[in-house]
Formats: sequence, C-alpha cells, structure tokens
Amino acid sequence: MDLSTKIEETRKRFAQELSAASTQEERDRVKNRYLSGPKCVLRGLFGELGRLSPAQKADGGRALNALKGELEEACRALAQQDRREKEHKLPPDPSLPGRLPPLGRRHPVTQTMDDVIEVFARLGFDVVHGPEIENERNNFQALNIPLDHPSRDAFDTFYLEPPWLLRSHTSPVQVRTMLRRKPPIRVIAPGKVFRPDKADASHLPMFHQVEGLAVGEGVTFAQLKGVLLLFAESMFGVGTQVRFRPSFFPFTEPSAEVDISCFICGAKGCSACKGSGWMEILGAGMVHPHVFEAVGLDPGRFTGFAFGMGIERICMLRHGVADIRYFLENHLRFLEQF
Ligand code: DAH
Repeated sequence: MDLSTKIEETRKRFAQELSAASTQEERDRVKNRYLSGPKCVLRGLFGELGRLSPAQKADGGRALNALKGELEEACRALAQQDRREKEHKLPPDPSLPGRLPPLGRRHPVTQTMDDVIEVFARLGFDVVHGPEIENERNNFQALNIPLDHPSRDAFDTFYLEPPWLLRSHTSPVQVRTMLRRKPPIRVIAPGKVFRPDKADASHLPMFHQVEGLAVGEGVTFAQLKGVLLLFAESMFGVGTQVRFRPSFFPFTEPSAEVDISCFICGAKGCSACKGSGWMEILGAGMVHPHVFEAVGLDPGRFTGFAFGMGIERICMLRHGVADIRYFLENHLRFLEQF
C-alpha cells in the first residue's frame, strides 16, 4: 500500500474511532494512539518517508503534516463541544458576579463637541440646531455670499434639487436664528457640514462645526475677544493665549482668524504647531450689516459677533491625532484610547 492510500485509510479510521468514543477519556485514548508518543500511528507514517525518493518525500511530508493538523483540530473541536455541554449542565450559580457587557463610550469627536458646547453653555449661550439640508438663500445669499462671487468657491457645495443643498457650514443657522428670535441673541449651533472634498489626512466630505452668534445693542469686538479667550482657557488650559489675525469672511466685517498659543510646547514651537508656537482654531468677526439687513434687523441699532470652528480639527490638535480619517474607520483600538 502506498503512503497516500495509508493516509486516506488513517483519516477514515480515525474519524470512525473518534465518533465511536463517547467519553472524554475514550477520546483521549484515540488521540494518544494516533498523535502522541514515539509509537503513535502518525509517527509510524512519518517513519515511512525515509523509504521514498526525495520528490515523493516532499509530497508525502506535506500530506502527513496536513493530516496531523486535521486530526488535532478534530480533537480540539470535540473537547470544546464537551466543555460547552458540561457548562450547560451545571446548575446556575447565583453567587457568581454578573458578567459586565462591554461598555461603549462617546466618540472622540462627540466628546470634543460636548466639551465645546459646555464651555459656551456656561457663558450663557443657548444650543440651537438647523437642518443639514439647507437652501441657497440661508447658506449663501443671506450671509452676504452673492451667487457669482468667487468667495463662494471657498464653501464648495454638494447641490441637490434647487434650491436645496447640503449645508457647507453651520453659518446658515445664524440666519435661521435671527429670523426666529429677537435680540439679545446668544447661541451656538453644533452640527454636521458637507463639502465635496476628497478624503485625505485633513479633509473629509463630512465634518462637524460649531457656530457662535451674539447679537444685541452695543455688542463689541472686545466682547468677542473676551469670550474666545475664556473659551481657549477652558478648553486648552489656563494661560492659553489667543491671537487675532486679520482675515476675510463675507458675513463678518472686520473678520479674523483666531489662533491659540500651542498647548503642547507652551508656544515654544514644536511639530504640533509646525514650529510657529500658534495653532489656528477658528474664524470670527463682527456680523456684516448686509447679514442684518437680510434677516430684517436694523444694522444701525444692533451689532453682533460670530465665530465658527471645525470640531475634528480641534479634536486632532487636543489628542495629537495625525489623520482625520481615523475618526470614521471604527477601529476599536483607536476609539478606545479616548
Ligand atoms: N463659516 C466659516 C467656514 O465654514 C467659519 C466662520 C468664520 C464662521 C467666521 C463664522 C465666522 O461665524 O464669523 O469656514
């Protein structure tokens, strides 16, 4: 009988004997006979390799190793089944501690969002929401972004059936709020925004922003600075400084980009702040008179400040996350760190 026939026979015989064995003891005996010790069946078969030509030896060796793996796996599977059945038969023990289900947690982006909301809530800002499907008027025109103006490119947009689109920023919630409420207004608007950007380390086609708006008689840029300084210190630690750089947004005048002193290196310059000592975290400014006009408020009587920030970006700065796509990959090894 050649080796491959013997292997086939052994496979069959083993299966028969194993299924005939009704106790773990009997199964162990079958297992030992085939798999353990110098006199076991498998060792015997391996011994026969010596009589074969080198080419046959290689094939035979492979076939025998495969057989060995199969037999061991069959024993393991049966033993496991046995264990399960035994567990089943044990009477329940009510004195055992309960099994804790694995606890979930808030997503890191949600945590950052909640922290931002909490700081502004303490400063007296209400939380308001707007729809993710907006119309062009609220997303653009009422915010002083004319149809044909190049600044519209900065808020690249997913268009739906006219006049609908996926909002490209949370600023339209300013418009909705001013149409619904009378000053004094102090609100923040958290939520998802959408832009047709290709996903890379710092872009996703969907991300989160928090918008802020304060409107009243005599609201000043100094108050904006005070509020944002308090925000920066609450969020990133006492002693954090803020820096306002002149900038342009159609819906504010004057406008500023706001940086915070790097909380990683204490503004000395490191890789997190790219050596500058500062990190850009938001855009802000005084509400443009055209925006007031669009919502029927008198720009001669009211002034206001507004700001908007990207939450993923702040979350990445806080935790040193190198790639924004990690937030969407749902890998527990990433998410469980927060
Ligand atoms: N909407 C701007 C953006 O998506 C952010 C922003 C800048 C909001 C300045 C504001 C603001 O309210 O005053 O880039």
